[in-house]
Amino acid sequence: MPILEKKPARERDSQVLPKVPVPPMNQTLDTYLKSVQHLVKEEQFKKTKAIVEKFGGPGGVGEVLQRKLLQRRDKTSNWVYDYWLEDMYLNNRLALPVNSSPVMVFPKQTFRDHKDALRFAARLIRGVLDYKTLIDARALPVDFARGQLAGTPLCMEQYYRLFNSYRYPGIKTDTLKVQMNTASLAPEHIIVACKNQFFVLDVVANSKQLNETEIFSQLEKIVKMADNTEERLPPFGILTSDGRTEWAQARDDLTKDQTNKDSLALIESCLCVVCLDEPSSLEPNDTNRALMMLHGGGREKNGANRWYDKSMQFVVGMDGICGVVCEHSPFEGIVLVQCSEYLMKHITGSPSKVTKASTIRELPPPRRLLWKYNPHIQGLLTASGDRLQRLVNNLDMDVFKFKAYGKEFIKKQKMSPDAFIQVALQLAFYKCNGRLVFTYESASTRRFQEGRVDNIRSATPEALAFVTSMADERATFTDLEKMKCLREAINAQTNYTVAAITGMAIDNHLLGLLRIAKELNMEKPEIFCDETYLTSNHFILSTSQVPTTVEMFCCYGPVVPNGYGACYNPQSDHIIFCVSSFWENTHTSSVVFVKALNEGLLEIRDLCNRCSAAATKLADSSQEAGQPHKSGK
Ligand code: COA
Repeated sequence: MPILEKKPARERDSQVLPKVPVPPMNQTLDTYLKSVQHLVKEEQFKKTKAIVEKFGGPGGVGEVLQRKLLQRRDKTSNWVYDYWLEDMYLNNRLALPVNSSPVMVFPKQTFRDHKDALRFAARLIRGVLDYKTLIDARALPVDFARGQLAGTPLCMEQYYRLFNSYRYPGIKTDTLKVQMNTASLAPEHIIVACKNQFFVLDVVANSKQLNETEIFSQLEKIVKMADNTEERLPPFGILTSDGRTEWAQARDDLTKDQTNKDSLALIESCLCVVCLDEPSSLEPNDTNRALMMLHGGGREKNGANRWYDKSMQFVVGMDGICGVVCEHSPFEGIVLVQCSEYLMKHITGSPSKVTKASTIRELPPPRRLLWKYNPHIQGLLTASGDRLQRLVNNLDMDVFKFKAYGKEFIKKQKMSPDAFIQVALQLAFYKCNGRLVFTYESASTRRFQEGRVDNIRSATPEALAFVTSMADERATFTDLEKMKCLREAINAQTNYTVAAITGMAIDNHLLGLLRIAKELNMEKPEIFCDETYLTSNHFILSTSQVPTTVEMFCCYGPVVPNGYGACYNPQSDHIIFCVSSFWENTHTSSVVFVKALNEGLLEIRDLCNRCSAAATKLADSSQEAGQPHKSGK
C-alpha cells in the first residue's frame, strides 16, 4: 500500500493541497497603495506613500520581515493561520452575539404543539449524530471550488472542527480548543437549553446511540424538568453573551466552586447545544427570525437560553422560529451552510423514525446542570443581561429579498454575479453617503492547506468611478460611458477575487509582516502605525456571500459601531440581502441602505438592458446596411 494511504484521512486531505503562498512584498505594497489612494485625503496618502516606499525599499524593514515570513511558510502548514485566528477572533473583546457569531435562519416551521417542536428537535439531533459519524470517518465528500477557478479540491479541515471545538474566554485573548482525538472522548453528550436551564442529554447508552424516539422521549423529560419552578436556577447562559473579558472574569469567579466547574466541564465537552426556545411573541417574518437567531431577544425572551462559546447551537423555537447560531472561530459560513443543509434535508426528506413506545429503551432522565451562586454572581448575571439588552435594542436589521432578478440575469450580461453584487453594494453605500469606505469581502483560501479566508477590498478605484458616473446628477455620462465604467468595476472586482482565492490578497500578508515584527521584538514598523493602515482596517462595510441550495439564509451583525453587515445569498432569480447596522449610530440605517440597494440594482439592470438594446439595434442596422436589399417585387 502506498504510504499516503496509511495516514489519517485528515493529514491526507491536507497534504495534497499546496501551502498558501506568501505574496511578493512589492506586489502587496503596490496593491495596498492602490486600494487606499482614493479613500483617504491627498495629504494623508502622500505621507502613507512615503512610509510604504521606505518600508519596502532596499534595506528597508520590509525585506527582513518578508524573509522571516518565507521561513515561517516553510516551517508551518499555513503561515497565516494562527495570526489570522487571533487577529480576527480570539483577540476581539466584543460580545459574540451580533458582533461575531453568524447565524443560519431556517424557514419558519409549523408546530401544532410543543410535541411537534420536540419531534423536530429529535430529528435534528439524530441528523447531527449521523453527520458527525460521517465527519469522524472522514467520509464527507471533498468539496470542489465553484465559480471563479472552479474545479480544484478544497481543504476539509473546517468540517472536522464543527462538533469538537470550544472557545474559552480569556482576560486578554480567548483560546480555541479543538479535540481532534475522537477515540479518547468520553461517551458523547449534547447540552439542551430549556427555560434558561441546561441539561445533559447523553446520546449514547450501553454503547449504542439513541434513536429518534428515544431522543424525543428524553427531550420531553427535559421540558418537564425545566417546567419545575422550584428547581429552576438563574440564567447562567447570559454570561456567555457578554464581552469576552467580562465573561472571562465571571468564569474565574464561577470556577472557584466545584459544582460550577463540573457544569462548565460538561458544557465545554458537549457535541453541540440545542436551545428549546420559548415562543418569541413576534411576527415570524424574515427579519424577526434573523433577530431571534442573532441575539435571542435579550433576557426577557431567549437571550439567556444560549451558550455562545460552543461552536454549534441549534435553536428550535416552540413558535417555529428555528436556526443555527455558530461561534465563528473554528470555521466559515460555507461549512455551516453544508452542515445546515444536510440537517434540513435529513429533517424534511426522510420519513419519521419516531417509533412505537415499545421499541425504546428505559433510559435514565437527562441531568440538570447545577450552579452555585452568591449575590456577587447574581450581580454579574444582571450586568451581563443589561449589556445584552443594550445590544438587542441597538441592532437594526433588515432582511430584504430582491426579486427583480438574480444570478441568471447577471450571467447573461457575461459578468460575475458576485462582482456585480459587490459593485451594487458600493453603489448603495455611495447613494447613502456620497463616498466609498473601506470594505471587506471574505474570499475563501480553502484551495490551500488549512485555508480560511482573506479580504477582497471591494471599494476599488474602478468601483468609485462607476458609482460616481451613476450618481452624476448633471447627466454628463452617457449610457455607454456608464456601462464601460461598470465593466471596468466588475473586472477589477473579479481580478481582486481571483488574486484573493489564489493567496495573493494583501490583508493576511500585511498582518503576517506586522506579527513577525512583533515576534522579533522590533519596534512596530511605521507602516502599521500610520493612520491609513488603521482606518483601512476599520471596515464600515463588511460583506460576505453565503449561498444556499436549500431555503434558508445566513446573516451577521456589523463589525464596527458605524458600519453595516451585508450578507447575501444569490439565487438564480432573486437575491437575499441581510443588512445590519446599529441604531445608536446616527449615520447608518439598514432600511435606508436597503432602499438604496434596491434602487441601485434596478438602475444597473436598466443600464444593462438599455445598452444591450442599443447594441442589438446597432447590429441589426449594420446588418441591414451591409446586406443586399431584398425585394419580393
Ligand atoms: N459570465 C458568466 N458567468 C459567470 C461569469 C461571467 N463573466 N463570471 C462568473 N460566472 C458564473 C460562474 O461560472 C459561477 O457559475 P455557477 O453558478 O454555475 O457555479 C457563478 O457565475 C458564480 O461565480 P461568481 O459570482 O464569479 O462568484 P464565485 O462563486 O466565484 O464567488 C467568492 C466568489 C469570493 C464569493 C468565492 O470565491 C468565495 O470565496 N466564497 C466564500 C466566501 C465565504 O467564505 N463566505 C463565508 C464567510 S463566513
